[in-house]
Amino acid sequence: MRLVYYFPEYHQYVEQTGAVLKVVPADTNTFQINFEAFLDILNPNVQAVLINTPNNPSGIVYSKDTINKLCSILKDKQEEYGHDIFLISDEPYREIVFGGEDSVYISKYYDNCLSCYSFSKSLSLPGERIGYIAVNPKAADADIIAVICGQISRGIGHNCPASSIQLAVAEILELTSDLSVYETNGELLYNTLVKLGFQVVKPGGTFYIFPKALEEDAAAFCLKARKYNLILVPSDNFGVSGYFRMAYCIDTEKVIRSLEALERFVKEEYGQHLL
Ligand SMILES: Cc1ncc(COP(=O)(O)O)c(C=O)c1O
Repeated sequence: MRLVYYFPEYHQYVEQTGAVLKVVPADTNTFQINFEAFLDILNPNVQAVLINTPNNPSGIVYSKDTINKLCSILKDKQEEYGHDIFLISDEPYREIVFGGEDSVYISKYYDNCLSCYSFSKSLSLPGERIGYIAVNPKAADADIIAVICGQISRGIGHNCPASSIQLAVAEILELTSDLSVYETNGELLYNTLVKLGFQVVKPGGTFYIFPKALEEDAAAFCLKARKYNLILVPSDNFGVSGYFRMAYCIDTEKVIRSLEALERFVKEEYGQHLL
């Protein structure tokens, strides 16, 4: 089971195992977990729940209340169903949280937790495919799971990252790139989007923002944006229609130039002006 909106590769990962991925629609007012929909979909066949916070594509960070509620539901359901339910927490954006906040370390709240991490965001190392899975030592079969993860990695064709990058990352485990640029860029985009009349939830982290498109067909909206040299990703790729994702892992100067293009785009195509 997966709580949307989600990183599209999850489908392949889950389906390769023979498991079934069920998607829980998000609460689009907040992009926190839609607990009503989650409770509706939970059933005794559920073996694992997959979450991603800070989230790609919404940029939202789950609050402590959301995490507490999720973990408490899962604990109750483990009792009710009489079997373990694993919480797979995909956290590659763990360090990219705005407003001086720290993101909640979910494994502290739930024993049967597997924390998945990638260095590609905190160290700006996309393409190196280097990260780890930390299995909570209190999880059921923790020792076996830790060993099996290495085997799964080989089984899906990703043997291991080059030893040179493994050695390099081991030297700088405590460091990150300058992540402050993402917060600056996110603020700039959010403020302009609001002034242009977009419906958008303020990102709490990552380098994404996920506004509602100005027409129902997000793919058509993004195609029109290309005329203005704006590369937007329609939300259909993330399991929902009507939204689009902007990524701002770029120089602030480029974001500022893009804002001018965005203003022209919405004025010329949709007649919307800066408020
Ligand atoms: C939510 C999420 N999980 C996992 C990944 C994979 O990260 P990588 O393959 O760069 O290590 C990404 C990358 O965009 C992501 O957004």
